[in-house]
Amino acid sequence: MNRPKRRSCIDQIKPYEPGKPVEEVERELGLKGVLKLASNENPLGPSPAALKALKGILGRLHYYPDGNCYYLKEALARKFGFTPAEVIVGNGTDELLMLLALAYINPGDEAVTVYPTFSEYEFALRLMGGVPRPVPLKGKNFDYDPGALAGAINERTRLVFICSPNNPTGSLISPAQLESFMRDLPPRILVVLDHAYIEYVTGSAHPNGLDYIRQGRPLLVLRTFSKIYGLAGLRVGFGLAPAGVIADLNRVREPFNVNTPAQVAAVAALEDEEHLKRSLAMVEKGRRQLAAGLAMMGLRAVPGGGNFLFVDTGTDSRKVFEALLQRGIIIRSGDIFGFPTHIRVTCGTEEQNESFLKALAEVLA
Ligand SMILES: Cc1ncc(COP(=O)(O)O)c(C=O)c1O
Repeated sequence: MNRPKRRSCIDQIKPYEPGKPVEEVERELGLKGVLKLASNENPLGPSPAALKALKGILGRLHYYPDGNCYYLKEALARKFGFTPAEVIVGNGTDELLMLLALAYINPGDEAVTVYPTFSEYEFALRLMGGVPRPVPLKGKNFDYDPGALAGAINERTRLVFICSPNNPTGSLISPAQLESFMRDLPPRILVVLDHAYIEYVTGSAHPNGLDYIRQGRPLLVLRTFSKIYGLAGLRVGFGLAPAGVIADLNRVREPFNVNTPAQVAAVAALEDEEHLKRSLAMVEKGRRQLAAGLAMMGLRAVPGGGNFLFVDTGTDSRKVFEALLQRGIIIRSGDIFGFPTHIRVTCGTEEQNESFLKALAEVLA
């Protein structure tokens, strides 16, 4: 087919392979009641307060959204002790990653990431002709290695992506590790601390990154309403950073990037502490339940945080994925992350976890 020549930098981009939607699996395999434990969503659903607020705005959908996200930014600024000028809201955190690349990456510029990690960092970089410098996490437990991260920095480095808990491994960076890395980092480099799963970290000491921002250090914290807040379908994420960084991102943001239902639901969800508590309790229990069930099969999850587990099955995980799919359970196969014997499974409700464990035992037997 005749068409213009693609930009060469996008030759390197592999289209994103999302977790399969329930409807697609049900349609293709003729199944009913398919269980999705593939995208780290919240099985308890959105906060009831968010649903109530959504109903209230349906009659206003003929208006454009507030391009400044005034009420949501106010609420976020208040919650975290910042000013609205230090907050940006995006159409999911994914959009904020694109804004980062648009604002800071010239062709040939580099960003340090860990390996394996969330694929959208590389996607955003590649779109702008940027080059990822992945630093492998260490050993069987996929530990952060601040020395190795520092060793990957050079004069072309613009950004460093630190995902903690890291998707897909769950790895956590400790406050001391982050501090040792930040201490010697040239201030021309922006550290992006992706905290999509931070609300699920309870037992371990974990840096929140906010003090660095208060000191005016070049650090951006990314958070999302897609995970514990249960609003993945509305697409809303946010960033906190020194005002200069936020101003750069706002330059390349489209005017109405966050839709009205997303803004309204996010404000309501932010205040619903009950829903957060319930969701966290479910995940804490679910992690224990899954770990115990996996241990009975001689398997062990990578230690860490998040509402998901990364597990070495010791066998071809694509086959495990396919066999679970036939039984109506969707997980992620580790081959997409470069780990062909691992799987990543999202913590579900007690009953969902039980179904997964039972099916996995059958598949591995
Ligand atoms: C580490 C990490 N960051 C960001 C995102 C994207 O979140 P959002 O739905 O806000 O775009 C995800 C989603 O899976 C993720 O795992």
